[in-house]
Amino acid sequence: MKHTDIIDIFKNSEYIGNRVTVCGWVRTSRDSKNMAFLELNDGTSLKHLQIVIDKSAMGDISAFMKLGTSLMIEGTVVKSVVAADSVEINAESITVLGECPPEYPLQKKRHSLEYLRTIPHLRVRTNTFNAVFRVRSVVSAAIHEFFQARHFVYVHTPLITASDCEGAGEMFRVTTIGFDEKNQFKTQEEYDAADFFGKRAALSVSGQLEGEVAAMALGKIYTFGPSFRAEKSNTTRHAAEFWHVEPEVAFAELPDIIEIAEALIKHIINTVLEKCPEELKFFDAHFEKGLIEKLESVAGHSFAVMTYTEAVERLKNCGEEFQYPVEWGCDLMTEHERYIAEKICKRPVFLTDYPKDIKSFYMKQNPDGKTVAATDLLVPGVGEIIGCSEREADLDKLLDAMNKRGMTLEEYNDYIALRRFGSVPHSGFGLGLERMIMYVTGMQNIRDVILYPRTVGSIF
Ligand code: 4AD
Ligand code: MG
Repeated sequence: MKHTDIIDIFKNSEYIGNRVTVCGWVRTSRDSKNMAFLELNDGTSLKHLQIVIDKSAMGDISAFMKLGTSLMIEGTVVKSVVAADSVEINAESITVLGECPPEYPLQKKRHSLEYLRTIPHLRVRTNTFNAVFRVRSVVSAAIHEFFQARHFVYVHTPLITASDCEGAGEMFRVTTIGFDEKNQFKTQEEYDAADFFGKRAALSVSGQLEGEVAAMALGKIYTFGPSFRAEKSNTTRHAAEFWHVEPEVAFAELPDIIEIAEALIKHIINTVLEKCPEELKFFDAHFEKGLIEKLESVAGHSFAVMTYTEAVERLKNCGEEFQYPVEWGCDLMTEHERYIAEKICKRPVFLTDYPKDIKSFYMKQNPDGKTVAATDLLVPGVGEIIGCSEREADLDKLLDAMNKRGMTLEEYNDYIALRRFGSVPHSGFGLGLERMIMYVTGMQNIRDVILYPRTVGSIF
């Protein structure tokens, strides 16, 4: 259908005085004696386009006035009567593309985010989700721009895998064996052997292991795709299916990868500040007061760096009562992570050198014998958004860490071989796209930055 995007009409003053065709859904409507007014949204802009109808020239307008109705409108672009810096359309002809009955759930009142979660097929038509998904799209493009400009190769790692990267036992099993067939197997081994791949398979929690394979040939790579985690934790920042950005860089030690991570986060923020000013104003007004100022400040200052050991000392002495007590060696909870970022550092912080026992097998062991060259990026409001480490490049040390964890080495033959054939220092990280979106929009719940969120006990 030949028509003009509403965003273009707002952005280019050349349209003033011209006839255009626009399409969209009615967001508000107002009827007065001689005139009627519609606000139309076609998804290209957060702001609606006002349509002015001269009732004497249009006949029966009742079909155009119902919220949610889709219309095609021909008319002339004119300067807005009320807002000097905006434009509106004097309608000349209006066609109903799709009617919308009064039981349409998105009537004019403000709906709670909780209610909107029950109608994921319609909530995208609200201002909030219009803004969220445009920011999500801009952030995704910015991630590709960042890596492509720096000679990273975009690789696609498998989503179905036979090995567990994080070793946390939180994988979704992939099987074709039905409920009624299960009983014929006496052991797990028999079951696995009879299954589609002839061995146990699962959805990948991370593309890192295959990413390392690619980096050992292509030097700098990144993946950007879905990861899956069967974490039973029902929180505001865990989803069973999330989008994962994972660069892997050869010839890079921990400080090198930290530099890349900080530059990526700043590039994302600067891009959103530049390309989504309307959306950020909206989030600043409705979801996080001071959001724009926060983002500008984060983009303009260096991030903090602090060791885990120092952070634990500071948490123990800060006088705050935490739900979970802190001791050296414990895994930090969201409350601790947020306290460190929000109260101690007051900005994003790379927490480094975690105890080796709470981290994954692949992390480079530090000379102290107790910690690993790993870092999490913690940000105010969200907590961890990046998990990062230098990888153990030494074959014996890697095997030792795997054996201590009781891992089945045969499942990791390829990975281990990388340490035998021209091993090099290398590092990488994983950024959770949804947590990044939460950070730049101020949205508080991961369910509100995903089109169809999948969380424990809930799938629409
Ligand atoms: O810290 P994680 O578990 O690290 C890894 O998976 C490494 N293999 C990454 C790497 O070095 N290539 O996960 C990385 C990030 C987290 O910091 C978080 O932002 C996100 O992935 N994440 C989740 N996001 C939403 N829901 C979940 N259940 C998530 N689990 C991890
Ligand atoms: Mg982590």
